[in-house]
Amino acid sequence: MSIVLGIETSCDETAAAIVTSDRQIRANIVYSQIDAHRPYAGVVPEIAARAHVAKLDGIIERCLAEAGTRLRDVDAIAATAGPGLIGGVIVGLTTAKALALATGKPLIAVNHLEAHALTVRLTADVAFPYLLLLVSGGHCQILLVRGVGDYRRLGSTIDDAVGEAFDKTAKLLDLGFPGGPAVERTAETGDPGRFALPRPMRGRDNMDFSFSGLKTAVRQAAAGLSQPPTARDLADLCAGFQAAVADVLEDRVRRAIDHCRTVGTPPTALVIAGGVAANRMLRTRLTETAAERDLPMIAPPIALCTDNGAMVAWAGVERLRTGSTDTLDVAARARWPLDSHADPLPFAGVKA
Ligand code: KG4
Ligand code: ZN
Repeated sequence: MSIVLGIETSCDETAAAIVTSDRQIRANIVYSQIDAHRPYAGVVPEIAARAHVAKLDGIIERCLAEAGTRLRDVDAIAATAGPGLIGGVIVGLTTAKALALATGKPLIAVNHLEAHALTVRLTADVAFPYLLLLVSGGHCQILLVRGVGDYRRLGSTIDDAVGEAFDKTAKLLDLGFPGGPAVERTAETGDPGRFALPRPMRGRDNMDFSFSGLKTAVRQAAAGLSQPPTARDLADLCAGFQAAVADVLEDRVRRAIDHCRTVGTPPTALVIAGGVAANRMLRTRLTETAAERDLPMIAPPIALCTDNGAMVAWAGVERLRTGSTDTLDVAARARWPLDSHADPLPFAGVKA
């Protein structure tokens, strides 16, 4: 059995966790910087980096104490090395390097997207290859996960990430930050049929996404409302937005499942990961979509969908098993595609 410390600092969560190869989460501490960023209704990279510096050491100490694990008993130290806001990534990776140097333990530089991609295997039995819908604040992709370190990108957004669309919708409607949970809550009592919103890319002969047109349509619909909008207006618009997102994701996922079967790599499951995978309505809809195609839909528990240290520690466990560790000169990367064979994406990849 191996024990891995995981550190996550690529966006606005300062997080550390201790996870074992027999799938125990001994401690998983997430410090959310939301309050520091709320006045700006978005994550401010400089504020995030400074907050990581201020908080990380204490969080690692608390994490070890809570896990009842001494640093010398840890088998490897894993940290997100990208993609993400570079200042924050440097803070976490440098801390991990210092700990690795001081203890003589191996360092594992984890791709944040790989951590999202593999988290499901920490909590469920999912065999390769599986189809992964990775939906977060910075990414929206469909990948075939063929093994640890072996990913094929089938499609991605050509403009905004889906989490970004949630965040912008929330900002536009003044629902607060972060946007995803606020839109989901507001949509609960809404009528998804009241506003006619577009379903960008639905029916297209590829597996890509686009959300900027939907965002514009939400803005136009909001501008047509009496000011300030009523609670009913807000609920209906959020429900309409969420239904449009669900329709698009469903269409793209169906096509991806069919594609994988046609080319002879049938997936064992549909997995959804990333912050947007915390959305209950989308989880339900995608469960139905997978079931239509006789596939299970498997998602990590909601708390492991948004950024956390356990997912980084688990990616470390998986990498340690394959014997792939890193040297202390490994660099932090703002961009780091999971599929190095895929065409570069000029517009995405800053966050994860
Ligand atoms: O993976 P993640 O924690 O971080 C990065 O993107 O770096 O994803 C955060 C994103 C945000 O856009 C947030 O609004 C979205 O996930 N999100 C949600 C929900 N919870 C978080 N979107 C829809 N519904 C939710 N319940
Ligand atoms: Zn993330």
